[in-house]
Amino acid sequence: MNNGNSNTANEDLVPGLANILVTGGAGFIGSNFIRYAFAKTDFKGTIVNYDKLTYAGNLLNLTDIEEKFGGKNYFFERGDILDYEKVKQVVTKFKINIIVHFAAESHVDRSIFGPKDFVETNINGTFNLIEVSRQLWTGRSDVRFHHISTDEVYGSLGDTGFFYETTSYDPRSPYSASKAASDHLVRAYYHTYGLPVTISNCSNNYGPCHFPEKLIPLVILNALEGKPLPVYGDGKNVRDWLYVEDHCEAIWMILNKGIAGETYNIGGECEKKNIEVVREICSVLERLCPAKDNPALRTLNAARSRMDQSGELQSYQDLITFVTDRPGHDRRYAINCDKIKNELGWTQRHDFENGLKDTIAWYLNNADWVKNVRSGEYAKWIEKNYIRRS
Ligand code: NAD
Ligand code: DAU
Repeated sequence: MNNGNSNTANEDLVPGLANILVTGGAGFIGSNFIRYAFAKTDFKGTIVNYDKLTYAGNLLNLTDIEEKFGGKNYFFERGDILDYEKVKQVVTKFKINIIVHFAAESHVDRSIFGPKDFVETNINGTFNLIEVSRQLWTGRSDVRFHHISTDEVYGSLGDTGFFYETTSYDPRSPYSASKAASDHLVRAYYHTYGLPVTISNCSNNYGPCHFPEKLIPLVILNALEGKPLPVYGDGKNVRDWLYVEDHCEAIWMILNKGIAGETYNIGGECEKKNIEVVREICSVLERLCPAKDNPALRTLNAARSRMDQSGELQSYQDLITFVTDRPGHDRRYAINCDKIKNELGWTQRHDFENGLKDTIAWYLNNADWVKNVRSGEYAKWIEKNYIRRS
């Protein structure tokens, strides 16, 4: 490891040939990243997916990768990032020289109900990983720890302005506070021990394999089943949406060209109010799978007329329901990503209209995946989160 504060590229680091440990690789972005590395780059190295398989982790996200590369240059290791000895053993066994750290508790609403897991996994888990890296990588110049973080660490914006890499941290939820703490630890390891780290802070992702506790997949699946589409508060909170594959490409570019010690903001430059997002989903669904032909809505209308409830549901929009707001709900996020564009040459390839169409098509074509993730624990969460909002 280089020891000092000078920002240098690791010249001995060749990500295309590396042994990469992806933590949280069975989750939404981690699984898309593994697929991206194998399918869209010249990657010839090895990927080890290290995942605890919490409710959010799902090996179905990677069945194609397992079939093609499993046991050759793709390996799955079930484990907790809080388990120091296991992490150390896996990093040693597979001669890991890059860690891409996605594993986290990621859902803001869950952090409001139960912050403890967020502190443990996001802060202590990250601490374990950088400690293992520090212990095992001392003296090496072919190593890199890339930490995946979020725009939420910067807090909440008013109607104008953007988050820059230099914006002061101001996290407002237990989730974003735990991510902020982990960012600080990772950065401290660069300055104190010379651990070659990079950090990226990304805006809201959407795309295939997104767990349906999050707004976009939740609304798609609820609409198809004729369930209410819950919009928190006045629906005017703004998020900056990025198609997940564009995020994966940005991470790949940071591994290849990013400078140790640097932070890169990644964003969609696509600000939308939540209510606009929900309406756009309804419009796309109306084209792909019209409400009037949807058996779930027809059954619902029949039941409403039997119960003498007026107003037949004509379209998916009629399912939109404003519900009690999220406590401490950040009003607006907007990322300025000029740095990664200018310094590494990254840009978004997907616009929201096409990305959303592809995402909805993916959910329509993957009924088995949907059935699997919505069984068991998921149903309990939906009841817990939405029952108190109605
Ligand atoms: P996710 O919840 O879909 O997946 C998290 C994965 O981590 C799951 O596979 C889970 O099993 C695993 N995991 C959780 N705790 C673990 C532990 N203790 N040990 C090992 N594995 C564990 O999350 P995601 O949406 O894919 O987010 C991935 C990362 O990207 C997170 O760090 C998140 O903070 C960050 N991020 C997400 C978004 C977004 O819009 N989803 C945007 C910016 C940044
Ligand atoms: O900004 C990046 C962050 O984006 C990531 O760090 C998080 O891991 C990820 O979960 C996401 O956080 P959000 O809280 O922005 O995502 P979520 O999909 O939960 O909510 C998006 C917006 O929609 C938010 O303003 C809350 C609102 N919402 C959400 C749900 C689940 C609703 O109005 N209704 C809902 O039912």
